[in-house]
Amino acid sequence: MKAEGNNVYSVFDEIISRKEKEAFLKQRSRVVWMTGLSGSGKTTLAKYLERKLLDNGYFTKLLDGDNVRSGLNKGLSFSEADRQENIRRIAEVSKLFMDGGIISINCFVSPTKEIRTLASDIVGTEDFIEVFINTPLEECEKRDVKGLYKKARAGEIKDFTGISAPFEAPEHPSIEIQTKGKTIEESGEELYEKLLPFISDQAL
Ligand code: ADX
Repeated sequence: MKAEGNNVYSVFDEIISRKEKEAFLKQRSRVVWMTGLSGSGKTTLAKYLERKLLDNGYFTKLLDGDNVRSGLNKGLSFSEADRQENIRRIAEVSKLFMDGGIISINCFVSPTKEIRTLASDIVGTEDFIEVFINTPLEECEKRDVKGLYKKARAGEIKDFTGISAPFEAPEHPSIEIQTKGKTIEESGEELYEKLLPFISDQAL
C-alpha cells in the first residue's frame, strides 16, 4: 500500500462491487428460494433448472437441505429453533453468493411463514424470489422417495413436516409450480421460463 496525497488506499483495497460482477456475468444475481414439502420435487427441479441455466449462460450455486445439513449445519435438529438457525445461516451464505454476482438456488422445506420471512429479511425482499413447489401431501407421501413418510407415520421421526410438524403454504409466492401429473421436464421448463425475467440482465 502506497500513500498518494491524502489517499492511503491503493486500488487493490477496493472490493469489487456486485454490480460489476453481475455485469461481467450478464445476469442479475438473486436468491431463488424453493419451498415445499419433503418429496415435493424441490431438489429435482433445482437440478434441472441449474443445468438449463448454465447451458444458457447463467452462473448459479445450488444449496439443499440434505447437503447443507451434513456440513455447515451439521448437528441442527428439526425443532422450530434449529430450523430457524438452519435457515438463518443459509440465507446469510446465499447473500454472500449474491454479492458475488451468483444466482443462488436454495431448496429448503422452510415450512413456516416466519422462517421464510427471516430468510427474505436477510437477503432483502427485492432479491428474494420465493418459489413454491406445490405438490399435495398425499402425492409426496405416495412418492416417498426416501422412505421418510413411512417412518414419520410410524412415529420414528419426530417433528416431520406435513405429518407431525406444520407446513404453511406461501400466500403470494413469486413463482408457483404444481408438479402433480406433470413430468420433471414440463415443470422444469415452466420454472425456467418463469424465472428468466427475474435474472435477465435487462433487469440490471
Ligand atoms: S428445514 O425445515 O429446516 O428447511 P431442510 O430443508 O433443511 O428443512 O431439510 C429437509 C430434509 O431433511 C427433508 O427433505 C428430508 O429429507 C430430511 N428430514 C429429516 N427429518 C425431517 C423432518 N423431521 N422434517 C422435515 N424434513 C426432514
